[in-house]
Amino acid sequence: MGIYTTKRLLDIALMPFRENKKIGFVPTMGALHSGHLQLVKRALVENDGVVVSIFVNPTQFNNAADLKKYPRTLENDVTMLSSLKGNVFIYAPDAEALYDGNVISKKYNFSGLEHEMEGKHRNGHFDGVGTVLNILFRNVEPNRAYFGEKDFQQLQIVRKLVEVEKLPVDIIGCEIVREENGLAKSSRNKRLNEIQKKEAAVIYRSLTQVKEQFKEKSIAELNAMVVQIFSENEYLQLEYFEIANAETLQTAQTLENGNKYRAFIAAFAGNVRLIDNVALN
Ligand code: PAJ
Repeated sequence: MGIYTTKRLLDIALMPFRENKKIGFVPTMGALHSGHLQLVKRALVENDGVVVSIFVNPTQFNNAADLKKYPRTLENDVTMLSSLKGNVFIYAPDAEALYDGNVISKKYNFSGLEHEMEGKHRNGHFDGVGTVLNILFRNVEPNRAYFGEKDFQQLQIVRKLVEVEKLPVDIIGCEIVREENGLAKSSRNKRLNEIQKKEAAVIYRSLTQVKEQFKEKSIAELNAMVVQIFSENEYLQLEYFEIANAETLQTAQTLENGNKYRAFIAAFAGNVRLIDNVALN
């Protein structure tokens, strides 16, 4: 395993893997946990070498305080990755080098996917994600790239990004890894205190209830149910609950046969913003 801070050094290390070998790629912002490791493990099974990027991308944060507070644990990340068997290449560039001195976002049109849910609450977020991934994909040139369903909207947008930018990479979605109490693993969980961590289980618990009652209740009733559950919890504030079409991500008003739907939640525990989602059918 090696750590590379520039595209040039990464290129040299990847040289033996470029011909007749498959390169997998797992982009991350570090503060790694078992959710990230699941992506890396799968990528190691399906490819000859795996690049894991660790880069806290400034252009996708719409809130300067959130960027500042984002956990940075490179030493620990390296230890976690070195416990895996296989060819792992850590790509940890700095912002100036990665963005070639111009740390700003490109403006993207993701066919409306970017205006739903997270897009409404995090202005410019997906332009930042698209911009950094476009640069990273061009630098790493992977055959396959792995993303978690935890950020389901991001996963759909990445699929659109590779179409828009004509990038020759297969995008692979991976299941959400959870804590024992159901809370989706997240780098942000490190900022929760014990009681918040325990109470944050209400997010997945309500999504599970929605899934169980999806066939019997109307969308309006399910909305009301989730609002009610959160109103009874003093530790969590619901930002949004949505049932949306899994392809277009548009809010479902009525259900149509043949469409796939998912339920999405964003909520705050103190000043820590958490998101989660489940497939409903
Ligand atoms: P980050 O939040 O570090 O997540 C990196 C990848 O890990 C994403 O694909 C995310 O969906 C996945 N992941 C996080 N928690 C997970 C969990 N509990 N189960 C399964 N997968 C999980 O997402 C980003 O970074 C950034 O936006 C990035 C794509 C790196 C662009 O900067």
